Amino acid sequence: MIVDFVFRGKTIINGRVVDSTIIIDNGVIIGVHGPSYPIKSEVELNYSSRASIIALPGAIDLHTHLRGLRLSYKEDEYTGTRAAAKGGFTVVVDMPNTLPPVNNKASALMKLEELSKNAIVDYGLYLGVPENSEEVYKLLELRDEIIGFKVYPQDYNKKTLAEVFEEAKKNNLLIIVHAEEPSLIKENPIPGYRWLTRTIEAELYAIERMGRIANKVGFPKIHITHITSSYAAHLAKMYGFSFDTAPHYLLLNSNTEKEKKALAKVNPPLRPEPIRFALLENFKGGIIDAIATDHAPHTLEEKCKPFKDAPAGIPGLETTIPLLLTMFHRGWISLSTLSKVISEVPAEIIGLNNAGKIAPGYIGNLTIVDLSREFIVKPEDFESKAKHTPFEKFKCRGKPIGSIVRGRIVYLDGEFHADRGYGINITKYHKYYKEG
Ligand code: NCD
Ligand code: ZN
Ligand code: ZN
Repeated sequence: MIVDFVFRGKTIINGRVVDSTIIIDNGVIIGVHGPSYPIKSEVELNYSSRASIIALPGAIDLHTHLRGLRLSYKEDEYTGTRAAAKGGFTVVVDMPNTLPPVNNKASALMKLEELSKNAIVDYGLYLGVPENSEEVYKLLELRDEIIGFKVYPQDYNKKTLAEVFEEAKKNNLLIIVHAEEPSLIKENPIPGYRWLTRTIEAELYAIERMGRIANKVGFPKIHITHITSSYAAHLAKMYGFSFDTAPHYLLLNSNTEKEKKALAKVNPPLRPEPIRFALLENFKGGIIDAIATDHAPHTLEEKCKPFKDAPAGIPGLETTIPLLLTMFHRGWISLSTLSKVISEVPAEIIGLNNAGKIAPGYIGNLTIVDLSREFIVKPEDFESKAKHTPFEKFKCRGKPIGSIVRGRIVYLDGEFHADRGYGINITKYHKYYKEG
């Protein structure tokens, strides 16, 4: 028997680094064996003699803005998924705050088609909250092709929100929330002080508000994205919500905003040091469910506008995994925690029951990293159209070197090996399920 793909080298199984042979055929992992297991394959990657290279379960980004449509000048489904592949992500879940917004059936169909034609890694899609109930029901016709609904602060007062929660519950769709209470937030033109007018209280109030709506409709699956504080983590946990944070809330504080100005402008804003510190301590202690990139690309030109006019958002697909690997080297997290927060738990949150692990029957996605590769973050080298980051010049230790999607090399050592349109909708993953 000749299988499609074999990886030989280190991997992580039940939290331990072991020498292995990972066998993938027809998109699915069909075996995980010892290092010299005899098997022939069309493609073999052999890293048996490279102690610093390790295969992790394919990383999944719960929160990506691929943009596209009329925002393609910022990023599109092709450049965004190239950035994902290069950054070690095998799956991204795309956000609906595009132009036109993906909160009606026509634009959702358009978006799904653009993703299918252009993505080079696998993708999922969240829909936006529509303006009227009729549209809610039209959108639900796409229930088998979407992951759920994204709730932005500007949606909190929409009449359709309760309906969306109710339908999410009935149809087993995810509600993913940007937690900032709109009536409590104001813009602040002074770099370094956005946190003063977009406070943690606004974040907590928003989570509590979601709790109240959820309570009325019997608690759909709710995920709070990009939390910025330890308080928010604990409040979300109390409600039984899952949550993620992004590397910038763990590693940067409001002083970075003062220094780097709009390059560090993001919503919710970077927090003062004690808040960042406490969140990082939570992360080290293992209480943060997941890490997402919130890859929010804007052009460098837009980010160079005066602080108050520049758009908020930080590109993250090409920095997140290197930053997490650097945290591993600092002794803050284990590799096992790392693979949980970028793969295993995200898979659970979006309901993929055959992704996020390296085991027979699971989808054949791998993120191959070189733990010893050191490099300096240079945004001009990004695949993303957004060639800037507040992490510019940050010294990283550990780098993703390969992204394997359904047993095919999409990216390896600086080269792309998949064409536009290779990526598929992750709602089709259940079709790949095989008994191991
Ligand atoms: C995001 C964007 O640019 O789309 N910006 C941001 O600052 N995070 C929107 C969002 O995720 O809230
Ligand atoms: Zn957001
Ligand atoms: Zn976002």
